[in-house]
Amino acid sequence: MLSRRAMTGCFLGALFSLASRRASTNESIKHPGLFDSMLLRNLRLPNRIIMAPMTRGRAGVQRTANPLMAEYYSQRATAGLIVTEGTAISAPGYGWVGSPAIYTDAHVAGWKGVTDAVHKQGGRIFLQLWHTGRVSHPDFQDGETPIAPSAIAAAGKTHSPSGVKSYVTPRAMTRRDIADAVREYSRAAERAWKAGFDGVEIHAANGYLIDQFIRDGSNQRTDEYGGRVRNRLRFLIEVTEAVAQVVPVDRIGVRLSPDNPYNDMRDGNPAETFTQASKALTGFGLAYLHVVESVQIAPHMRAVFDGPFILNGGYGAETGAAALRAGEAEMIAYGRHFLANPDLVERFRRGAALNQPDTSTFYTGEPKGYTDYPPLT
Ligand SMILES: Cc1cc2nc3c(=O)[nH]c(=O)nc-3n(C[C@H](O)[C@H](O)[C@H](O)COP(=O)(O)O)c2cc1C
Repeated sequence: MLSRRAMTGCFLGALFSLASRRASTNESIKHPGLFDSMLLRNLRLPNRIIMAPMTRGRAGVQRTANPLMAEYYSQRATAGLIVTEGTAISAPGYGWVGSPAIYTDAHVAGWKGVTDAVHKQGGRIFLQLWHTGRVSHPDFQDGETPIAPSAIAAAGKTHSPSGVKSYVTPRAMTRRDIADAVREYSRAAERAWKAGFDGVEIHAANGYLIDQFIRDGSNQRTDEYGGRVRNRLRFLIEVTEAVAQVVPVDRIGVRLSPDNPYNDMRDGNPAETFTQASKALTGFGLAYLHVVESVQIAPHMRAVFDGPFILNGGYGAETGAAALRAGEAEMIAYGRHFLANPDLVERFRRGAALNQPDTSTFYTGEPKGYTDYPPLT
């Protein structure tokens, strides 16, 4: 049986083959770059230490953000910016047990509790807009088949509400489905804005719906949404345009993962695909481009992108500061370090020891391993 731990291990294993090349052996060296404030377009960030989006499975069967989540995020409000866990834009987009959503008024009210709590602590928070596409499961969809660009199943298994199941072959989206999904992104973004978020991040990474359009291993369409790179990017661009109709464009970030194989993803020419993606996203005036690190491809993406750049994946205090110093990015996002250290910014500042993340409680749905990581005393 595939455990959550194994799934996380798979994701991180994939990432580590990239990140280990820059792994730090000394977390205690301090560099001021990470602590410099900056203007993210018109939003002042007190530092460049970003909390990476992380699914934590604490939203319950109602898929609604709750006071426990408000506590978790507000504990981490000293981040330059928090990006929330992936949040389902619609019922067809839902695909992870216990993950939150933002497609009903109740979801908005739940998230308002989170944004209020974070703002009260002086923080800033973007919502990550998520559609899982082919890696959802009929068990999440009242028995309906999940949708995706092409009818190609991901190899592997998922935790559905009724246990561990193999991924199914998705139904290839019609043009009508595509138009509906684009509309769902903009409705969700509008709701996020109403819930008091400072902005939104379009999740176009890690093998979910938008990434399934971008990479040719999961997109074999023969219409204007498939084939050459420009066509495979069309869905991403349509989503970005639609979201920009309802949220100020300088409050929209996009996350990409050029060569993360998680969720059985592949592409024939990732350097070309993702440099083009980065180019296609220039000119909007986006808040940022957030790249789950590929040491080979990210520099090319940065070279053609016209806005702030976030790098993520295996960074420590020293390696993050070095990347900023080398001009590789304006900000560094931290996932597991932030999960385990609510006061990560202060720990980096002081060169203090870090709590280690407990993988067994990543998705358990409980306060243990969520809001009880000890702060510095
Ligand atoms: C528990 C957990 C949940 C995650 N959930 C998400 C998610 O919802 N959205 C996303 O884009 N990435 C997600 N990721 C990936 C992280 O954002 C990040 O890319 C990864 O942890 C590598 O960064 P790190 O080395 O600083 O931890 C998740 C990672 C972990 C460990």
